Amino acid sequence: MGDKGSFLLPDAASTLAGEVDALFWFVTWTSAIIFAAVIVAKVYFMARYRRKDDTEVPEPVKESKWLEATWIVVPTILVLIVFTWGFDVFVKLNTAPPDSYQITVRGGQWTWEFQYDEGASSFTEMYVPVGRPIKLNMSSSDVLHSFFVPAFRIKHDVIPDRYTSVWFEATKLGEYQIFCTEYCGTEHSTMLAKVVVVSEEDFATWLAENSTDLPPAELGQQLFAQCAVCHSVDGSAGIGPSLQGLAGSDRALADGSTVLANDDYLRQSILDPASQVAEGFQPIMPAGYAGMSAKQIDGLIAYIKTLE
Ligand code: CUA
Repeated sequence: MGDKGSFLLPDAASTLAGEVDALFWFVTWTSAIIFAAVIVAKVYFMARYRRKDDTEVPEPVKESKWLEATWIVVPTILVLIVFTWGFDVFVKLNTAPPDSYQITVRGGQWTWEFQYDEGASSFTEMYVPVGRPIKLNMSSSDVLHSFFVPAFRIKHDVIPDRYTSVWFEATKLGEYQIFCTEYCGTEHSTMLAKVVVVSEEDFATWLAENSTDLPPAELGQQLFAQCAVCHSVDGSAGIGPSLQGLAGSDRALADGSTVLANDDYLRQSILDPASQVAEGFQPIMPAGYAGMSAKQIDGLIAYIKTLE
């Protein structure tokens, strides 16, 4: 028992895992005790009441009210305990806290895809913060799958054309295996992924780093807010030249030469603005934009090309 797992149960790493395990052990031990009692009584009776010679005639069996009452009342109580306890855990497992963080899970032959509202998505790893309830809204793009995380004690069918959900709250940092546990075709057994439980700060960082799934031009438009201080998109000159109609045009530079404003020019002008200064402007654009990711720069270029 406890968190470390055993030969019957894997590690327990969610808030409800302990409750599921307690019920599991109650049913297991109750069954084991009843099984042992039945076997011991049977062996005892076989020895005690065996027929000792051919002339022996047994006494007629008389009813025993208390014995009959016992074997009706005790099993009834046991079944009611398992029912009410199991129903309680079932309701908890199926009632996500209203403030749960929600992740969209899509099962398909033979991968899991995890989509976050912030725009991030992932195929092999589902990042979640520790100590925060997570609700998974799940559906399938083809056949029946089933989402199973043994360490969290959650398992639920993932069905085409229907949404199902599970929730959990991870209690420990670490990586936990996700299985598909419904046969779904040739590669069913390789339909695996991992839950990566990280701190709130690491989760925020991961979301920020992976939330660039916008189309490049839209990403660029978002990023352009910081450029709009100096560059207009309507042809009017500001501190820097307007970027309207720039892409694909011939650009006159401060040194008297002319250059075609292709993608390479745009990229170069973002990374090293002083290298190709436009005619009529001073080389005052900060060089700090070189720290942007390739994806962000691609996005900016894509957006600038929409400014006709
Ligand atoms: Cu998906 Cu098995």
